[in-house]
Amino acid sequence: MTGSSPRVLVVGATGELGTLAVHELLARGAKAAVCGRDPDRLAGLAADTGCPARRIDAYDLDDCGSAAPWAAAALGGLDGVLTTVGVAAFGPAATVTDDVAEHLMTVNALCPMAVLRGAASTVEDGGFLAAVTGAIVDAPLTGTADYAAAKSALSCWLGVVARELRRRRVAVVDARLPHMDTGFATRAVFGSPPPLARGADPGREAAVLVDRLLGHLPGAPTGPPS
Ligand SMILES: NC(=O)c1ccc[n+]([C@@H]2O[C@H](COP(=O)([O-])OP(=O)(O)OC[C@H]3O[C@@H](n4cnc5c(N)ncnc54)[C@H](OP(=O)(O)O)[C@@H]3O)[C@@H](O)[C@H]2O)c1
Repeated sequence: MTGSSPRVLVVGATGELGTLAVHELLARGAKAAVCGRDPDRLAGLAADTGCPARRIDAYDLDDCGSAAPWAAAALGGLDGVLTTVGVAAFGPAATVTDDVAEHLMTVNALCPMAVLRGAASTVEDGGFLAAVTGAIVDAPLTGTADYAAAKSALSCWLGVVARELRRRRVAVVDARLPHMDTGFATRAVFGSPPPLARGADPGREAAVLVDRLLGHLPGAPTGPPS
């Protein structure tokens, strides 16, 4: 990290958790670059924050792979990458169609993997690569087989990459966050969620996650200014 401001790319920044993470980063003095799919929310976030912004779609994996080099050029280097891209589907596995299964694997696994693959040689030594998987990796629920499988594939990939990048002291973070009140389940592309207990506070989860990520960077600020 050069100077005192960590430079971080957030992919999925147009989502609930991603936007919260961007604001937590900025509150700690970090510089952020943001990628998202929804053009209106992306433009709004860029206008609110002044962050460099770029559209991204999970179905263009080459473009996903070029997000980190773009962010490094925009920020003058890159200390960390966080991807919060994801989508859910619900229902017994036998009812889930192959196109839905392919969609879940593309958005939840292949897209974050392409982003972080492209970031691996871009991020500074001692930096971090992070993705939000979820507590579902530890405890897959009935009716979430394809979503849980996609998140577990990403989690496995992160575990291997962590060992590959250890020598460069790059922290690879598999953020297995709990169910949160972001409305994520209501945006499922297939099926309806089972009755869910009240979720955790996404603002608090984003703050704890950002502290954890910045804590990997030597000399980086932690905690928002009081
Ligand atoms: N909320 C929970 O209970 C919970 C629990 C554990 C883990 N998670 C994980 O946390 C992450 C953030 O979830 P959230 O609660 O913030 O939900 P969210 O608001 O729906 O965010 C999902 C993000 O994924 C992006 N996305 C979806 N489909 C995409 C596609 N085809 N191409 C590119 N981007 C795409 C969305 O982009 P646009 O908004 O621009 O469309 C958005 O930025 C997800 O990975 C989710 O799996 C959530």
